[in-house]
Amino acid sequence: MNVLVLGSGGREHALSWKIAQSSMLDQLFIAPGNAGTSDVGTNLDISVNDFDAIKNAVLDNNISLVVVGPEDPLVNGIVDFFESDSALQKIGIIGPSKKGAQLEGSKEFSKIFMEKNDIPTAKYLSVEKANLAEGKSFLEKLKAPYVLKADGLAAGKGVLILDNLETAKTELESMINGKFGDASSTVVIEEFLDGIELSVFVLTDGSSYRILPAAKDYKRIGEGDTGLNTGGMGAISPVPFADKVFLEKVENQVVKPTIRGLQNDNIPYKGFVFIGLMNVKGEPYVIEYNVRMGDPETEVVIPRIKSDLLDLLDAVGQGTLSESDLEIDERTATTVMLVSGGYPEAYEKGKEITGLANVKDSIAFHAGTKSENGKVVTSGGRVIALTSYGNGRAEALKKSFESAQLVDFEKKYFRSDIGFDLN
Ligand code: AMP
Ligand code: GLY
Repeated sequence: MNVLVLGSGGREHALSWKIAQSSMLDQLFIAPGNAGTSDVGTNLDISVNDFDAIKNAVLDNNISLVVVGPEDPLVNGIVDFFESDSALQKIGIIGPSKKGAQLEGSKEFSKIFMEKNDIPTAKYLSVEKANLAEGKSFLEKLKAPYVLKADGLAAGKGVLILDNLETAKTELESMINGKFGDASSTVVIEEFLDGIELSVFVLTDGSSYRILPAAKDYKRIGEGDTGLNTGGMGAISPVPFADKVFLEKVENQVVKPTIRGLQNDNIPYKGFVFIGLMNVKGEPYVIEYNVRMGDPETEVVIPRIKSDLLDLLDAVGQGTLSESDLEIDERTATTVMLVSGGYPEAYEKGKEITGLANVKDSIAFHAGTKSENGKVVTSGGRVIALTSYGNGRAEALKKSFESAQLVDFEKKYFRSDIGFDLN
């Protein structure tokens, strides 16, 4: 079968790398892809939100399965677009409908969903202009730090965690008055959860599900988890504190009620559910849902899947996931992200990347890269994720850090303490 992967990051390179290993695959296309995806398939110069161009590419290339990488096209309704088009109806598409994508697209929607389905999560209040005063008095009842979340998508920047009550009140008002545009005209105020975070990934066809390996990512730019938030500087799977007992709680208290809740609300959902969790004294609380895989978590989760990923995804598309097995590699996988100097603030692009051919003990998943005059150059903040396997975390990390020294570009930066907080 012919497959199209939408997106251009490390996540999409990892998904494409795995799909390319399937005996079921004839041709793989990636839109728009990067310099790495062109090693495993054919890049198409199409934006992930240009649904008409995607339709033409699907029909021209006889594609029977589309895998949507990022959340944007899902929140914009690409699945509904496929389902309402007679020429596309039969094509499998991995991702939820626009309604299902609200689990990520609207914090308020996801909180109401969790409340309705008894899924453990932080206490909250949803605030807009009309109940701003109520919002401020809700803040007064909470203990510091204060968590304010823009309801809508705000390019990963819409969450503020503030120590001071007065600052929290001021920020609440400025968010409602458009600090993050329309995305923050509604703000979810949350109780702060004190614990350690991890991500659990679920693949579902809407009725059956398979739980993929859990992962932990490192979001801050600086060593010791300091400095600005990034898309993610590295990741590890498995997560040592997510033991069998904890993961059983996640399955029973979170995964099952989530799938059941989607069914009860008649929300068709064929795709990945990314559950951002806080482990608070051994109990799981949901921080957020995403309706896609995580990045860079995908770069450690997908390499740990032994089963044929295309077979699993095809089963999701057909609604027959209950018949498919998921086999997991027992080894640890780690990834270390090389980023452009200055990221997540201003950084330069177009720097030549050298040394990729010297990487032997890791897989180099490309994120912000492109091919230019026969060279591979940087084209984003996060550039290359170096994923390694090991019998244990130390062995895998050693390989990722060694590979990080072999790949070079001007102003390269990476965190050399990924995994520092785990024992
Ligand atoms: P979100 O976009 O909802 O994932 O929030 C971004 C980050 O803020 C999360 O990854 C957490 O580190 C942190 N965060 C969000 N909500 C809470 C909460 N209720 N308590 C503590 N930390 C939180
Ligand atoms: N690494 C976090 C995310 O993909 O949202």
